[in-house]
Amino acid sequence: MAGTECFILGLLLVTLLGTDAMPPPPPIQCNSTGCILHNSYGVWGDRQDCWISGVSYPTTEEELRLAVAQANQRKFKVKAVSGFSHTIPKLACPGTPSGNAVLISTARLDSTIQVSSADLTVTADAGVSLRRLIDKVEEAGLSLVASPYWEGVSVGGLISTGAHGSSWWGKGGAVHDHVVGLSLVVPATESEGYAKIIRLDSHDPLFNAAKLSLGVLGVISKVKLALEPGFKRSITNNFIDDAGFEDEFMDLAKKHEFADITWYPSRYTAVYRYDDRVPLNSFGDGVNDFIGFQSNSVLVSAAVRAIEKALETAQNVNGKCRMAASVVAFKKLVGNGLKNNLIFTGYPVVGHQGKMQTSGSCLYSSEKSTQSTCAWDPRIKGLFFYETTAIFPRSRFADFIRDVKKLRDLKPENFCGLDVYNGFLIRFIRASEAYLGQAEDSVVVDFNYYRADEASTPRLNQDVWEEVEQMAFFKYGAKPHWAKNRNLAFLGVQQKYPNFSRFLAAKKQLDPENMFSSDWSDEILFGKAAANGDGCALEGQCICSEDSHCNPGKGYFCKPGLVYKEARVCCYSPPSKDK
Ligand SMILES: Cc1cc2nc3c(=O)[nH]c(=O)nc-3n(C[C@H](O)[C@H](O)[C@H](O)COP(=O)(O)OP(=O)(O)OC[C@H]3O[C@@H](n4cnc5c(N)ncnc54)[C@H](O)[C@@H]3O)c2cc1C
Ligand SMILES: *[C@@H]1O[C@H](CO)[C@@H](O)[C@H](O)[C@H]1NC(C)=O
Ligand SMILES: *[C@@H]1O[C@H](CO)[C@@H](O)[C@H](O)[C@H]1NC(C)=O
Repeated sequence: MAGTECFILGLLLVTLLGTDAMPPPPPIQCNSTGCILHNSYGVWGDRQDCWISGVSYPTTEEELRLAVAQANQRKFKVKAVSGFSHTIPKLACPGTPSGNAVLISTARLDSTIQVSSADLTVTADAGVSLRRLIDKVEEAGLSLVASPYWEGVSVGGLISTGAHGSSWWGKGGAVHDHVVGLSLVVPATESEGYAKIIRLDSHDPLFNAAKLSLGVLGVISKVKLALEPGFKRSITNNFIDDAGFEDEFMDLAKKHEFADITWYPSRYTAVYRYDDRVPLNSFGDGVNDFIGFQSNSVLVSAAVRAIEKALETAQNVNGKCRMAASVVAFKKLVGNGLKNNLIFTGYPVVGHQGKMQTSGSCLYSSEKSTQSTCAWDPRIKGLFFYETTAIFPRSRFADFIRDVKKLRDLKPENFCGLDVYNGFLIRFIRASEAYLGQAEDSVVVDFNYYRADEASTPRLNQDVWEEVEQMAFFKYGAKPHWAKNRNLAFLGVQQKYPNFSRFLAAKKQLDPENMFSSDWSDEILFGKAAANGDGCALEGQCICSEDSHCNPGKGYFCKPGLVYKEARVCCYSPPSKDK
């Protein structure tokens, strides 16, 4: 029905009017009995709360050292978390059944940002937000070359999970590869005062472990990043037919410094982002205000979620396709959130690196208002989704896409539910020396999809996306982004990192008592399979091996994949067809 389409387009247009945003809730909520840590979506992979007995908020490196010392003396588990907690997996949860754990928030460890024009570096406290860092750097006439697309992260948190933008040029798109020094607070002996600060640079053998460490080595207090003279960027999005993009991506990434590709499989459309560095004196004062990170009216987010839920309940694939068609058309119309000045008037959009490299306008508010938020704000009944991010050696990427296309061609509508979000976002990062980074030039593929309000509720087309997920991680050996994904993606992750043992050796040296490890971070770092309970595959806590891992009561059974036969996915097959 065209009615739905108009309605959705109407809703999307309302979002453009912009209202005062309500900033995200603080990730830590306390009462007299203790505290609970949430990620920014308000729900962890296992839907269990992370409970901790205490939180400290150091404001200086010395206060941070004392917090770690005190925990060490009491033999407590410790984790750091930023003021944002934008990591999806439960990495930052130190919780133990006995409650002997503390959380150290870096929310207030954010007072210093030192830019050095002489040696082209910036040194910042770990809790400093990416946006504040970038603004300081740009004020000094310099630019940070790499950053994630989302600015709501801390400097310490983002390097700890390998956060990245997109580039195969220079040191590449991953921020940790631009780190030239860092300070780390680690446990120490009683005579050393139970905790000490170590300062590392590229000459130190521990550096390649520390620059991407998932928070399991100690708490980062300061990060020093390499900068370049300030520059502008020029961006043009080109919507094209998706035939053969898997053979062209190398050219694109080689020709354009910050290129990426968005692929909407159900629309047979690929969007090439031609994104190049241009001189500071180029004309243009544009902004990249990515549409997905703009503030949404609470009513709009709730309405979109309600429509999605209704389509799920009715198993209305075509409805999802109409929704996807409107969303893609709308993004094209508004340049995906690029603005030449206040609005999008056409390509190219040229602006300062600091305004083009990352965005997140839904984070800010001019006054207290409850009208609009980030679309996924857990306080409203807004968007709720999974995020799968697979990192491929570049030699395997094209074959992966060819397999996904085979699956798509069987029934293109099955992919509409992905295109409603962002399709497949394809980005580039270079080989890294970090032990938990990529050993070779790589291609990162991101896709989001509906998550149900309840763990036991199966989702429309989930079999297809589970197949893509298993294809990526198990057929093509992709590595899971440490800050995203469902638990199954981490199965066997250790074998995928040639220098994993070097990372563990560094951990043994810095944190011999495993103070900075918890059951939760072990699940990710060691890719431990979670308990195979009823329905575990619905939430990506396991790969199904029997029907009970899906939801036979609702007609979802464990079946082989359609293209990747070794996959085991939860497939809807109503009883009449089933034997
Ligand atoms: C909407 C959205 C968009 C995103 N877009 C991108 C993207 O474009 N590219 C990308 O790569 N990622 C992206 N991410 C993922 C994001 O970059 C990472 O999750 C990042 O780690 C979040 O930073 P944070 O400061 O919130 O860290 P947190 O979530 O607070 O912490 C991350 C990890 O680091 C540890 N940690 C935090 N601070 C310290 C410290 N000072 N010392 C030691 N350990 C510490 C924590 O224990 C935890 O293990 C996105 C996430 C969201 C929610
Ligand atoms: C504090 O929070 C815990 C965890 O949610 C909850 O069980 C408890 O009832 C709360 N206590 C108070 C006093 O609100
Ligand atoms: C592993 O680490 C060593 C020492 O830093 C380095 O020389 C080697 O290149 C790394 N190997 C890979 C595959 O990254």
